[in-house]
Amino acid sequence: MKHKVTKAVFPVAGMGTRFLPATKSVPKEIMTLVDRPLIQYAIDEARAAGITEFIFVTSRGKSALEDYFDHAPELEASLRAKGKTALLDTLQATNMDSGAIAYVRQHQALGLGHAVWCARHLIGDEPFAVLLPDDVIAAEKPCLQQMVEAYSETGGSMVAAMEVAPEKASAYGVLDVHPAIRSVLPVRGMVEKPAPGTAPSNLAVIGRYILSPDVMRHLDTIDPGAGGEIQLTDAIAAQISQTNNVYGYRFDGQRFDCGSKAGFLQATVAFGLARPDLRDELGDYLTDMVALRQAAE
Ligand code: G1P
Repeated sequence: MKHKVTKAVFPVAGMGTRFLPATKSVPKEIMTLVDRPLIQYAIDEARAAGITEFIFVTSRGKSALEDYFDHAPELEASLRAKGKTALLDTLQATNMDSGAIAYVRQHQALGLGHAVWCARHLIGDEPFAVLLPDDVIAAEKPCLQQMVEAYSETGGSMVAAMEVAPEKASAYGVLDVHPAIRSVLPVRGMVEKPAPGTAPSNLAVIGRYILSPDVMRHLDTIDPGAGGEIQLTDAIAAQISQTNNVYGYRFDGQRFDCGSKAGFLQATVAFGLARPDLRDELGDYLTDMVALRQAAE
């Protein structure tokens, strides 16, 4: 069985309505966390995990994303002429080799499962990763790399998992697993956005997946699920009933929900504080803010 994972799908077709009006003309994935767009965090994580082929599932109005990963000859020439080598190096990380990145369009917003299915011809018969750029994960070893290592032992399909408060479970895909204090957990079932009080556990799916290619076949045939959408969770659940070879991976790291405003702000603070050039100034400011708030109470 072939275990090496070299392709990754990035579903980036969403309209980002939670961030209107900013997302009226700027794709959500281009919104900036400190000084890098959200999508760059996902791409860097994929690269660290050995991904060499990047497949974006886009929609209308996302051309800024394509430009972002293109070379910028005028800008590069001007920085070179001024001897700004550090900035040139920073730009380097945004350049993709010709042919390494491919774009497919999702013509209708029919759900995450449908978005992944749109990449089926580019995936072919290989296992592949899926990264949801809204989920930003700060970790010493990048989350997908942790998963690729675990996956080389298990094969099958694997989803990132994290404990959430029981009252939050209905916002996620939730795993049915034997409770155990291990990082790799065989999954017995999965349910997308369970009704409050019905979740099989408090282990939620976070937006990192390694999937065996037969998931595409299931995506082709499953009925719409939660919210009337074609759900990736349902297709993985169908894999469980056929192969019994799906794993949850409890990753080491802190996940930020950058699909929400509060999560985005928290990530901005956390990533800002992690930066040597910003740590002191930002830290002092936050300390002052907390003191002011306490004084006002
Ligand atoms: C998607 C998935 C869900 C998963 C979540 C993680 O939901 O459908 O299973 O738990 O991402 O962020 P969404 O947040 O797009 O509603």
